[in-house]
Amino acid sequence: MEYRTLGKSEIQVSEIAFGAWAIGGWLWGGADAKDAIRAVETAIDHGMTTIDTAAVYGFGLSEELVAKAVKGKRDKAQILTKFGMIWDEKKGKFYFSTQDNNGKDIDIYAYSSKERVLADCDRSLKNLGTDYIDLYQIHWPDATTPVSETMEALELLISKGKIRAGAVSNYSHDLMAEALKTLQIASNQIPYSMVNREIEKEIVPYCIDNNIGILAYSPLQRGLLTGKFKKGHSFGDGDSRPDTPYYKEPNLSRIIDLTVKLKVIADERSVTLSQLALNWTKEQPGITCVLAGARNPEQVLDNVKAVDFKLTGEEMKKINDLLADLKLETRI
Ligand SMILES: NC(=O)c1ccc[n+]([C@@H]2O[C@H](COP(=O)([O-])OP(=O)(O)OC[C@H]3O[C@@H](n4cnc5c(N)ncnc54)[C@H](OP(=O)(O)O)[C@@H]3O)[C@@H](O)[C@H]2O)c1
Repeated sequence: MEYRTLGKSEIQVSEIAFGAWAIGGWLWGGADAKDAIRAVETAIDHGMTTIDTAAVYGFGLSEELVAKAVKGKRDKAQILTKFGMIWDEKKGKFYFSTQDNNGKDIDIYAYSSKERVLADCDRSLKNLGTDYIDLYQIHWPDATTPVSETMEALELLISKGKIRAGAVSNYSHDLMAEALKTLQIASNQIPYSMVNREIEKEIVPYCIDNNIGILAYSPLQRGLLTGKFKKGHSFGDGDSRPDTPYYKEPNLSRIIDLTVKLKVIADERSVTLSQLALNWTKEQPGITCVLAGARNPEQVLDNVKAVDFKLTGEEMKKINDLLADLKLETRI
């Protein structure tokens, strides 16, 4: 595993990190807590020492599970968490309605006032059972709070030693420029995969020019690029994947057809499709770290091997030619 520096910060992250959204269960149809803890432990033991979670993942549950897994080896791990998606008060910008892990209807708001960020940081520190967070990221832009106010809150948290660095997620290049006026943000966490390359147009060049790290999220397109889903797959209750554009027709069939072709290249290399997808993603310009979600140790052990090989120029070209042929519908 290679460790890369996140932007201009002093944070070193593993090139493939553990994504802890699914282990919170919310929007993933639930999760098994024992498997989850073992998954995070396995990740750290195999060099995937960077763990990305968020307060909203399972409404604190993901952070609590990470705390259990990291206990006794805090110094070996880098904990990245997020704030700013709230469910306990109706403030800021309404984001969407959902259900919590107990099936209770709730509304999610994007809200990152200074007061709220400071209070949320203390709550996350408690959930995580630690006295510092390596990287504290605003989860989603909040149009009702000046960007400078949120960045000032991060600055204050750095000065108090509660966080090592501040960062953003789902920020456009304009918002990043606004943030940089107040704080040297370490990174932007943003969706990026073989089948979702939107950020290549503006965000990647901006981050490269300004030395801002990029944490690529949903690199397996939430499991689709592992090749395990066949047409007609029935997802469990509470799993939001069928509601996303990549899991709807005609996109679903087109991506499944793509994975069949990618599998030929993976087989020639004796690697799995997950490893091929993660390896491709980590090699793309500007990408500092690839956040690979997993629910159990088996998935982690598969994903961690994505760093054990280097694709040749010829293989990269074959893959890129296949990706260039993929046309997805955006309005479905
Ligand atoms: N900032 C944001 O707004 C944001 C948004 C999304 C994600 N993220 C972060 O990015 C991380 C990664 O993204 P993601 O979790 O959305 O999606 P992902 O990494 O593309 O996919 C993760 C899912 O794919 C399946 N999977 C993973 N490895 C596998 C393997 N080797 N074999 C078979 N199945 C495998 C598992 O789900 P099943 O077993 O259920 O199939 C797993 O939960 C998240 O955990 C989170 O930390 C951030």
